[in-house]
Amino acid sequence: MILLTGGAGYIGSHVSVALSDAGLDVVVVDNLSNSNKASLERVQTICGRSLVFRHADICNEEAVYEILRAYDVSAVIHLAGFKAVGDSSVRPMAYYENNVVGTMRLVSAMTRASVKTLVFSSSATVYGCPEYLPLDEKHPLKPTNPYGRTKFFIEEMLKDLCNSDPCWRVGILRYFNPVGAHESGLIGEDPVGIPNNLLPFVAQVAVGKRDKVLIFGNDYDTADGTGIRDFIHVVDLACGHLSVLNHLKQPGMLTVNLGTGSGNSVLEVIRTFEAVSGRSVPYEFGERRPGDVAACYANPTFARKALGWKSRRSLAQMCADHWRWQSQNPDGYRGTQPLQYRVSKLKVRAG
Ligand code: UD1
Repeated sequence: MILLTGGAGYIGSHVSVALSDAGLDVVVVDNLSNSNKASLERVQTICGRSLVFRHADICNEEAVYEILRAYDVSAVIHLAGFKAVGDSSVRPMAYYENNVVGTMRLVSAMTRASVKTLVFSSSATVYGCPEYLPLDEKHPLKPTNPYGRTKFFIEEMLKDLCNSDPCWRVGILRYFNPVGAHESGLIGEDPVGIPNNLLPFVAQVAVGKRDKVLIFGNDYDTADGTGIRDFIHVVDLACGHLSVLNHLKQPGMLTVNLGTGSGNSVLEVIRTFEAVSGRSVPYEFGERRPGDVAACYANPTFARKALGWKSRRSLAQMCADHWRWQSQNPDGYRGTQPLQYRVSKLKVRAG
């Protein structure tokens, strides 16, 4: 059994599908603070097999320990965490508590249960402002915001853990910009409030929920002046988790970039989205967003060599799949929740 923390979220629901499709049994642990249990019902529809859901917080070591023991867990994929860059500067301690302390509690529960295989979702944000491109795993780590620093500190902590005990098998995955959705259109990204990231914003403009995209700067030193990022299909990203899990049958530690290796500009994304959706996506140019860099994309060579993994899906497919999810679910999972679930969630919050 694989324990998946944060498994009800955007990336987690796609990893759940990848694991289930590979015939693995999954127990999802999620506190539903930024996710919706309806995603897991849909994962089960997609895969035609059931998974276990346990509503728990990774900061609750006893609860995690009990779950590890109860389900005979052999490995943990740890995705749970806060992820909004701007928010992390407003309430940094909440990020350190949830991300860093949460991981410490999880590792402590795993140690007690003798489960010593862990895949951790890190981020390309640990590199900070690129000193060279494409970014390989040896690039210096200089995160520029509290969110990035939580990922950096956790990576360092896990390295120390592996050095102290050779029984640990740890995979650190540095995600670039995950976008898109499962091709069924049943699961996808469901941001609460105004989306921070580009693709969900573009999709909400295309579906008519917002008027226009504000492009953060058109005076960067790039071909069209807008920022360049390495957008990676979330299904390709999810497959990367399976590859690393297979790799961790050998002991040791592995840190890999999960990106495509090529960058696309904000304008290219908008034009591609318009082409595949048949909708117009109005935009206007605004000021640069503080903390943004001109360009950021991966060198994915190590992932190919070490894991035999590479991304397969094009930007057009990313946009087409994102659009299918957005157009079929204009209000995300909210439109489809069973009433009973809404009531029980309210009770949990009130408690
Ligand atoms: C952001 C986070 C990063 C995180 C990643 C997760 C920041 C500074 N960085 O990366 O730490 O790991 O999300 O996916 O928030 N853009 C617009 N208009 C918008 C939104 C975005 O022009 O409304 C532009 C941005 O300036 C950037 C590109 O689109 O050039 C991508 O932005 P975004 O999706 O927020 O991702 P990152 O900034 O790369």
